[in-house]
Amino acid sequence: MVKLTYRGICAPVFTVFNTDLSVNTAIIPKYAKFLADNGVDGVLVHGTTGEGMAMTVAERKTVVEQWVKAVKTTKQHLMLQVGGCPLPDVLELTRHAEKVGVDSLLCLPELYFKPATSKELIHYLKIVGEAAPKTPLLYYHIPVWTGVNINMGKCMNEIVGQVPTFQGIKYTSNDLDGALAALKANNGKYAVFLGADTLMASAFAMGFDSVIATTLNIVPQYAVKIRDAIKNNNVTEARKLQLQLNEMCDIITKNGNWVPTMKAAMTSLTEFNVGSARPPQMNLTVEHIEEMKRSLKTIM
Ligand SMILES: *[C@@H]1O[C@H](CO)[C@@H](O)[C@H](O)[C@H]1NC(C)=O
Ligand SMILES: *[C@@H]1O[C@H](CO)[C@@H](O)[C@H](O)[C@H]1NC(C)=O
Repeated sequence: MVKLTYRGICAPVFTVFNTDLSVNTAIIPKYAKFLADNGVDGVLVHGTTGEGMAMTVAERKTVVEQWVKAVKTTKQHLMLQVGGCPLPDVLELTRHAEKVGVDSLLCLPELYFKPATSKELIHYLKIVGEAAPKTPLLYYHIPVWTGVNINMGKCMNEIVGQVPTFQGIKYTSNDLDGALAALKANNGKYAVFLGADTLMASAFAMGFDSVIATTLNIVPQYAVKIRDAIKNNNVTEARKLQLQLNEMCDIITKNGNWVPTMKAAMTSLTEFNVGSARPPQMNLTVEHIEEMKRSLKTIM
């Protein structure tokens, strides 16, 4: 039986593009080590942050093969997002992922022939799951981006026994109440990775054990320290760190969309140049990047 035992602090890694927008895989071993050295015990490849949906199938395969190699050294959990393209391509990526040995799969819903009901979503996950019968499968709930907003608590009770490899979800929404219903589904046996950088202290206090948050790439120590502070009943410390992180997020995302702004922040604040986001996402202007750097300096 397929079972996902991993729970933890997982970074949704950026895909690094060169100035000609080709994929840079040479950076991956050092990037993996940087995260591992800072307490990040898992990576999610080709999520929203990783721009999987802006890449070809061949590129996605090449990148994940390099991450598989890198995590052999760092011992991080490797979760791969395989959705966001036509179903035949999703299935090809899924089969490839199992063959190269990723630890788990995350999958977006179909983005055009969208599921309107739990039943339709479960049907889709069943098809994807069958393409990788030995690898745990998670569903990627991110309604603001996909327009698919199915009640997760309800769906995760319904799916029990229907998709043998199904093991949980990534829940990207600020609706903590809905996330908690997902955490309780199937008697709490499924994993819920919360994707909400600004709500980690609240989530850990409510009993969540796993997060996937973009800022883990840039300032990994925050999530790790927030989790530990809650574990040690140090609410004052958890609150202080969360409020600082939220202020950072406000400054970073002020002048653009999530991925391009977070990429600019990563390049500004770490040793890694992660390049621009791919079109159609728009780059930040040089002036906005300078303004971001100045504002971040005042609070860090
Ligand atoms: C909370 O953590 C901070 C930073 O580590 C520490 O200075 C403080 O003494 C802690 N407070 C409690 C009540 O443990
Ligand atoms: C963003 O910058 C890259 C170079 O880093 C360029 O190739 C790309 O066309 C730019 N995108 C937009 C939307 O301006």
